[in-house]
Amino acid sequence: MDEQTIIQVDGLTKYFPIRRGLFKRSASPVRAVDDIRLTVLQGETFGLVGESGCGKSTLGRCLLRAIEPTGGNIRYRDRGGAEIDVRGLDKKGLRAIRRELQLVFQDPYSSLNPRMTVAELVGEPLICHGIARGGEMRRRVTALIETVGLSARHLDRYPHAFSGGQRQRIGIARALATEPRFLVCDEAVSALDVSVQAQILNLLRELQQRLGLSYLFISHDLGVIRHISDRVGVMYVGKLVETARTEELYAHPFHPYTEALLSAKPIPDPRRKADRIVLSGEVANPANPPSGCYFHPRCPYARDVCRTEAPPMKQVSADRAAACHFAGELGLRGAL
Ligand SMILES: Nc1ncnc2c1ncn2[C@@H]1O[C@H](COP(=O)(O)OP(=O)(O)O)[C@@H](O)[C@H]1O
Ligand code: SF4
Ligand SMILES: [Mg+2]
Repeated sequence: MDEQTIIQVDGLTKYFPIRRGLFKRSASPVRAVDDIRLTVLQGETFGLVGESGCGKSTLGRCLLRAIEPTGGNIRYRDRGGAEIDVRGLDKKGLRAIRRELQLVFQDPYSSLNPRMTVAELVGEPLICHGIARGGEMRRRVTALIETVGLSARHLDRYPHAFSGGQRQRIGIARALATEPRFLVCDEAVSALDVSVQAQILNLLRELQQRLGLSYLFISHDLGVIRHISDRVGVMYVGKLVETARTEELYAHPFHPYTEALLSAKPIPDPRRKADRIVLSGEVANPANPPSGCYFHPRCPYARDVCRTEAPPMKQVSADRAAACHFAGELGLRGAL
């Protein structure tokens, strides 16, 4: 693994069995994450984007082994510079490494226990990991809560007393308590109003610079991803279909699915609070994906080969790759 790499996954796969009836298992599982190769560099934000259900959350959770992957490798470079085989860790090893790898959730309301005060919520990871207790804990909790732009007078209040943005700040303080180095932010601003989104994104950026953090930032929102990411990966039906530096991806996409995403207008979805991307045609079923290129039934550029042969990830230039038979040849439209 490269010196500058903090996380590298190879062939990462997560299949969920589908249960029909009480005992019967269907023959084909949901391929939520399907053979993903991905690298996150130290200090960067890697944005992961794609329609709802394409496997972003599953990938983020598999990376931290919050859920167990079905297959593949996960390598992590720890604080001391050692390369850790995350899948090979036993319970104790995993617990130790969890201090350095944390998750920030979408909905800070449901992820914060309403019966705990802010001091208890932010202090809990300190106790769990045996980092601090008593007066030392209170001191650290105060420092953490100030780091995220709140103050000591908030410490003895309960989550319901706060706005969505403030609650997300509490969620971030909690994630930072163990002094992590790598954060998976899963739709971390998707439930917030647009003006508040920008504040939280700026906070995450500032923290990144100050603390040297690396992020895997998951969102279905292309605007948010563009704002925060150094590089972007586009997912479609469990697979990574394109990776590029942010400006390049938005200016000149190399995968027809990326072009389609960039051209789609998000529509407000009242059920989910956040907007959703809506493209024409149906998203493929991850339990029964189409033959060849999964995107072919929706792709305006599809030719015969696309129906029969799955396109491998093709390196188009030094830091760009796309899984399309015609990557680099189609002259696709960007969003600039
Ligand atoms: N625990 C689970 N059991 C069965 N299927 C699941 C489970 N979690 C997610 N899935 C399925 O895996 C696919 C990817 O889901 P998810 O990772 O949540 O996508 P995203 O975060 O991109 O919206 C979806 O088809 C979803 O229905
Ligand atoms: S491989 Fe074919 S169907 Fe798939 S994205 Fe490329 S052109 Fe479209
Ligand atoms: Mg998700």
